[in-house]
Amino acid sequence: MEEYEVEAAPERLLADLKAGLSQDQKSIPPKWFYDEVGSKLFEDITRLPEYYPTEAERGILLSNAGAMVSATNSNTLVELGAGISDKTTALIDAMTEANGQLPWYVPFDISADAIVTGAERLAARYPGINIHGIAGDFDLHLGHIGGEGRRMIALLGGTIGNYPPEPRQKLLRTIAGTMKPEDSFLLGTDLVKDPARLVAAYDDSAGVTAEFNRNVINVIAATLGIDISAEQFAHRAIWNPDEEWIEIYLDALENVQFDLDGQEVRIDKGEAVLTEISAKFTVARLEQNLADAGMQLAETWTDGDFMVSLSTAG
Ligand code: AVJ
Repeated sequence: MEEYEVEAAPERLLADLKAGLSQDQKSIPPKWFYDEVGSKLFEDITRLPEYYPTEAERGILLSNAGAMVSATNSNTLVELGAGISDKTTALIDAMTEANGQLPWYVPFDISADAIVTGAERLAARYPGINIHGIAGDFDLHLGHIGGEGRRMIALLGGTIGNYPPEPRQKLLRTIAGTMKPEDSFLLGTDLVKDPARLVAAYDDSAGVTAEFNRNVINVIAATLGIDISAEQFAHRAIWNPDEEWIEIYLDALENVQFDLDGQEVRIDKGEAVLTEISAKFTVARLEQNLADAGMQLAETWTDGDFMVSLSTAG
């Protein structure tokens, strides 16, 4: 495994909060949701009746992995934000069948622990598979993206939706810049649909998404030793029809005040802190975003709710 230096979590969190909480519209980057509790809550979200994207994407991959691989002829799978690599097997199976041998697998994730957990499971399922894990932040270390052969670079789960337009274009451009002509980019995107269904997916009746959202306050309190509590905030999800994205907020239920290493933060009662956007796509918008980044959309697979697409670069 290659490990790239990821700045220690407390310093990165502090810097992110200093920046995000000093704007008129206060915000906290969504990557901080995923401590142990938050990762478990996200897994719970994926099993909620209202939260369709995970199962939709899994179904699309299971039904179409063969077509995806025969379209690209890939023999290496690079997975950005691989986590514990739990939805990768459909693609690995398809590559094995197409090439008559196991592909190389290159999981890239911020968590070295997750890569090791996933690699152990895959090695048990696919004896002899070559796995080259890369632990790093793919907003910073994408230049180190590894793998030889004909690479399929996958970014699944709708993760791209968490990126606002500018960072999204920057990420897509960076990915395009690492691609050789024989490489391909496999992207999972959630689709624009009935706002009531979208809002329900981010404000479920069991309150799991509310707990997931409010948990970021516990992450901040525990990581930085700040005296704030999830009880001081309420979860809210709205559909922004102009931007075509979901916004989730933490609304302060009382005045909240704390010190960030010398920088005083005041969140007034009733004030909303933006904790996530989750952009939803149309084929036209995706095609435009990809084209702006130097990629060409080649093929799409959808169940009507979610879409997996293949693109090429250069
Ligand atoms: C992990 C980015 C796919 O935007 O749907 C789920 C996270 N946030 N419920 C999404 C999330 C609230 C999520 N992704």
